Amino acid sequence: MSSLYDGLEQLAEGNIYPFHMPGHKRNMPGHKLETAYRMDITEIADFDNLHYPKGLIKQAQDKAARLWGAKESFFLVNGSTAGILTALSAAFSKKSEIILARNCHKAAYHGVLLKELKTHYLYPELIDEGFLYGSVSGKQVQALYEKYPETKGVFLTSPNYDGVVSPIEEISEIVHEYGGILIVDEAHGAHLGFSEEFPESAVTKGADLVIQSLHKTLPSFTQTAILHLCSDRVDRNKIQNYLGIYQTSSPSYLFMSTMEQCVEMVEREKNQLFPRLSEYIEEFLEDTEGLKHLKILDEQFAKERGIYRFDKSKLIISTYHTNISGKELADRLLSTYHLEMEMACEHYVLALTSICDKKEGFKRLALALLEIDKGLKENHDKSALNGLDIFWSREESIPMSISQAEELEKETICFNQSENRISGEFLYLYPPGVPLIVPGEYITKEMIMQIASYKKQGLSIQGIKDNTTICIEVIK
Ligand SMILES: Cc1ncc(COP(=O)(O)O)c(C=O)c1O
Repeated sequence: MSSLYDGLEQLAEGNIYPFHMPGHKRNMPGHKLETAYRMDITEIADFDNLHYPKGLIKQAQDKAARLWGAKESFFLVNGSTAGILTALSAAFSKKSEIILARNCHKAAYHGVLLKELKTHYLYPELIDEGFLYGSVSGKQVQALYEKYPETKGVFLTSPNYDGVVSPIEEISEIVHEYGGILIVDEAHGAHLGFSEEFPESAVTKGADLVIQSLHKTLPSFTQTAILHLCSDRVDRNKIQNYLGIYQTSSPSYLFMSTMEQCVEMVEREKNQLFPRLSEYIEEFLEDTEGLKHLKILDEQFAKERGIYRFDKSKLIISTYHTNISGKELADRLLSTYHLEMEMACEHYVLALTSICDKKEGFKRLALALLEIDKGLKENHDKSALNGLDIFWSREESIPMSISQAEELEKETICFNQSENRISGEFLYLYPPGVPLIVPGEYITKEMIMQIASYKKQGLSIQGIKDNTTICIEVIK
């Protein structure tokens, strides 16, 4: 068998009878997903084991490591979430101090909680009047190391959900000078590093561990992701052990097979697919040059705002200077034009593109935006609004760590009356899943008002047990 897919195909066509899991027995005739069932297996002879890979899976992971230029790569079947938990657990011992970019995904905070880590926050620059996270800089990392010399490493997200990339090479040099470990959450950047048209991947820029969601920006099944080990600074056996803790003991061979096929496709066709995507994006930017009110964040715009690098495959359509919100724009695009966006925020919409997009999709989006734009009005009066930094508690208003807050007794109170109380829960907009309120931090009046405004706009608030956000758990 030359690959996982070949093996599964041969098995589906062959006459080996399955007296083993899964219970569907590869025998679901007439079912709509019949082919998938026929190839869905558990660990059987010749098919290797994700937790102790020696054969087909090892071979597929090695192909991935060669493609990205990693020392070793590990397939993830529980998304980047499993990779982030593993990376933090393997890299840092319990109760270590780490620098954490404040705009990280909730999975990083959960990793912090599990290992009882103490966080020193790295606050990204805010751009576009405080509504978009910018890059984090080497200077900021250096300053935090000087202030907290016991720090054992840095965890940051690059690119972030919006395609904003941070200077990983510069940051990694600083982290390594201090003997630390750099973990980069590249969940939104599995497609980076394959063409000059897009930024480079952190894998080749000095990060020690890099986590990518293959399912987000490359052609691979939902839940599939990859963890790259890029240096000798983290023990690979610890990684393998923690993967055994955070991942299912029954990994899907269909998932692993799509990861292998994704790697093979990128390897084989990268020189055609990425330039083609770039061409579609450039054409889209030309087609939308006539927009009067809506604004599309392009590389030039990003550069002018001090962003280190911007991944143009993320189309950020700003409604900031218009009379509608990002959510209203996304709703119109869906209901009238049948175009579904990746994310809608207060002041922008994110359209995610990939090498599997069709030219027709870009054309439809451009036409829809031009039409909507004609009916919009200019609105510059946003001065009274809060930026994202109102959620950024400073050291003095963080009386305890996330894990300390987790242990303390809590009470449930009305969210509107939680001012000056210490939160016992996370609260975030999903997407992007960046915690706005973190356990162990004081809740302010501005935060309460801003959450109320998000609710009014119909944005999805998650994290707290009462998902109506009428109540919140606070420390007693
Ligand atoms: C920055 C970031 N990291 C990690 C994740 C988790 O990825 P996954 O859904 O693959 O577990 C997400 C999910 O949206 C994310 O936005």
